[in-house]
Amino acid sequence: MAELTWENLEKAIQNCRNCPLGNGRIQAVLGRGSRDADLMFVGEGPGRQEDEQGKPFVGQAGQLLDLALKSLSFDPGDYYIANVVKCRPPMNRTPEPSEAQACMNFLRAQFSRVRPKIIVCLGAVAHGNLVSNELSISRARGKWIQKKGVWFLSTFHPAALLRDESKKLPFWQDLKLAKEKLDEIRAVST
Ligand code: URA
Repeated sequence: MAELTWENLEKAIQNCRNCPLGNGRIQAVLGRGSRDADLMFVGEGPGRQEDEQGKPFVGQAGQLLDLALKSLSFDPGDYYIANVVKCRPPMNRTPEPSEAQACMNFLRAQFSRVRPKIIVCLGAVAHGNLVSNELSISRARGKWIQKKGVWFLSTFHPAALLRDESKKLPFWQDLKLAKEKLDEIRAVST
């Protein structure tokens, strides 16, 4: 997959049948944002609106994420957004570990093209698949981990904020950490 252009990568996900999620999709959802961003957000998987529009985080949770990013003065060119699985799970259920694994090569292909210096895991599914399964997201959030030269930070999934207001402040604080790290990395590389 390493030599695929973005266009071919997009075609590969639209034709993918590596797991059962491909049977129920309207369309697969690759990503949105800047393809040479230093920061990448990784969510769980498309919901209904994402499945319809072909873009990640365009529903209610995405609007909340965009609002938080704007309030912290992130520029849209600062980040790229993708998901662990590219096809909507039925009834928005959590993707099975086998589905996440079947889709992992696509996410790896995105990592190797965008080459982010910072990856923010949005929620337990991204955290569990990209960082570790050892701690719950409530315990793991807000802590930096460096793996192969990339900084990883995990936080709550924005949809969790819609169900539980008390998660809004820690979520915002975590995004602030990501903004500070981004500014720090840029200051060093300029
Ligand atoms: N939730 C996700 O994890 N990803 C999306 O794209 C939308 C909602």
